[in-house]
Amino acid sequence: MPPPASTPAWQALADHHRAAAGSHLRDLLGDDKRTEALTFALGGLCLDLSKNRLTPDTLALLIALADERGVAARRDAMAAGEAINATEDRAALHMALRGRAEDGFAVGGTPVQGEVQAVLDHMADFVAGVENGTRTGATGKPFTDVINIGIGGSDQGPRIACRALAPYRRRGLTPRFVSNVDATDLTEALEACDPETTLFVVSSKTFTTQETMTNAMTARRWLTGALGSDAVAKHFCAVTTNDDAARDFGIGDDALFGFWDWVGGRYSVWSAIGLPLALTLGMNLFRDFLAGARDMDRHFLETPLAENLPVLLALAGIWNRNFERAAAHTVLPYDQLLDGLPDYLQQLEMESNGKAVDRDGAPVAQPTAPVVFGQAGTNGQHAFYQLLHQGTDLISADFIAAVAPAHPAGDHHDKLLANFLAQPAALALGRKAGPGVPPHKQFPGNRPSTAILLDRLDPHTFGMLLALYEHKVFVQGVIWNVNSFDQFGVELGKELAGPLTRALAQGVEAPGLDASTRSLLARIRRARSGGDGS
Ligand code: F6P
Repeated sequence: MPPPASTPAWQALADHHRAAAGSHLRDLLGDDKRTEALTFALGGLCLDLSKNRLTPDTLALLIALADERGVAARRDAMAAGEAINATEDRAALHMALRGRAEDGFAVGGTPVQGEVQAVLDHMADFVAGVENGTRTGATGKPFTDVINIGIGGSDQGPRIACRALAPYRRRGLTPRFVSNVDATDLTEALEACDPETTLFVVSSKTFTTQETMTNAMTARRWLTGALGSDAVAKHFCAVTTNDDAARDFGIGDDALFGFWDWVGGRYSVWSAIGLPLALTLGMNLFRDFLAGARDMDRHFLETPLAENLPVLLALAGIWNRNFERAAAHTVLPYDQLLDGLPDYLQQLEMESNGKAVDRDGAPVAQPTAPVVFGQAGTNGQHAFYQLLHQGTDLISADFIAAVAPAHPAGDHHDKLLANFLAQPAALALGRKAGPGVPPHKQFPGNRPSTAILLDRLDPHTFGMLLALYEHKVFVQGVIWNVNSFDQFGVELGKELAGPLTRALAQGVEAPGLDASTRSLLARIRRARSGGDGS
C-alpha cells in the first residue's frame, strides 16, 4: 500500500490545510450551522468535533482519505475474523466478546460465539457462587476482597472499569489491583486484606509475564503461610490462554477462565479479564457493559463513514496530528470516576499505533500515534493546562463529561461542568492583545479540542465509550498502514532485563553491557555491599 502522504486525498487535504491557514476558531465558532454539522450522537453519547480547526469540507476530504485507504474493507476484514494482525498471524476479534449469535463472528471460518458464551456462563456461575456464599475461602468465610494481579491489558481495563463504575458496585467485595513488580504495590494491597477472605485473580494472557508471575508467587506464599497450601485452589483463580501454566500454579479447572489468541491484551477487558468487574458489579451489569460496546460495534460496522462516530473521531485525530502537527494528545475527563481513562488510552493508542514501520515493513512517511497523556479535570487545570493554553506546542485534547452527576452534592456538578465548558472555549477563542492585556496575559487560542458528552456514566455508556476509542485507534492504524495489534517495541527491554536480573540476584556478570549501564550496576552493588555507591 502506498504511504498515505503520497495519495491524492492526502494531497487534497494538504492543499486545503494551506488554504485555511489564516482561519481562527474564534471566527469558525460564530456559525451555529457548522457546529450542528460537526456534532454527532449515538444513544447517550454525543461527539462534538466543532472545536477542531476543521469544517464540513475538511471532513469530506478526510472521508475521501478514509475511502482511499480502504477503511471499510479493513473494518470488514477485522469483523470477518481475518488474520489482520499479520506479524503474529492472528485475528483481532474483540468485537466477538460482546457479540451475539446473530452477529456471526468466526475465526478461520469457525464460529466463536459458542465458546465466548461458555466462558461468560462459567463467569456467571463463579460470580453467583461468590455472591451466594457457596464459593468461599478455605476457612468457609465469604470473600471481602478481590485482588487482580496482572499488568498492561490484563490490569488497566478491569482497573479503570471498576473505578468508573464504582457507584454500581455491590457491597461486600472490594476490588484491588496489583501490577507493578515493585513489591510496594503488592505489599500495600496485602496489608489491607485478610488471607481468609481474599480472592486472587491472576490475569495474564501468557501466564509468563515477569511482573505478574512474581506478584502471583509472592501472594501465594502470603496465603499459604497463613492457611496452608491446600488453600490455593480456593483462593486463586486465573484468566489466561495458557491453561497448563495456570494448573501448574495450583489453580483448579473450576477457577480457570480461558480466552483466545485473537484477543489482544489491550482489547481484553470484555473477556474473562473483566472478571473483577463482573464480581463486583454482578453479571447483569457486566452484560450491560458488553451490550454498550456492542451498540458501538454495530454502529461502526453498519453506519456510513461520514456519520460513523469512531471514524469521525479518528479522522479529527489524523487532521490534528498530521496536518495541524499536534505534538501530543491529552485526554481530560471531567469526571473523577474516569481518572484512569488517560492511562488506559495511553496503552490503547501508544501500544497500538506507536509504530515507525508500516504493514509492508517500510518506514512510515508521516507521524503516527501522538504522545497521549492526561488527568481528570479540574485537577489538570492546576498542573499542565498552562502549557496547553500558552505553550509553544500545539496539543489536541478530548474533553469528556457526564451530564448526570455520580454524587449529587450542592453545586459541585455545576462547577465541574462549567469548567468542562470553559476550558475548551478558552483554548479555542483565546484572548487578543489590547489595552490592559500585556503579552504574558494574551492567549493565542485556535487550539483544537473534541468534546464527548455522556448522558450518564453507567455500564452501558462506559462500554460504548471504550469501544469508540478502540475503533478510533483501528481506523487511524488503517490510514497510517500500521499493524495496530502487535507490540514488538516492548520486547527488547524485557530481553535485556533477564541477564540484569540474574546479575543483581546472583551476583553473576551480565555480558555485553554498555558503559553507562555497567557503571549504574556497579554503583548499586557497591551501595548494597555497604559502600556509599560512589
Ligand atoms: O507489555 C506488553 C504486554 O504484552 C501487553 O500488551 C499486555 O497487555 C501485557 O504485556 C501483559 O501481558 P500478559 O497478559 O500476557 O501478562
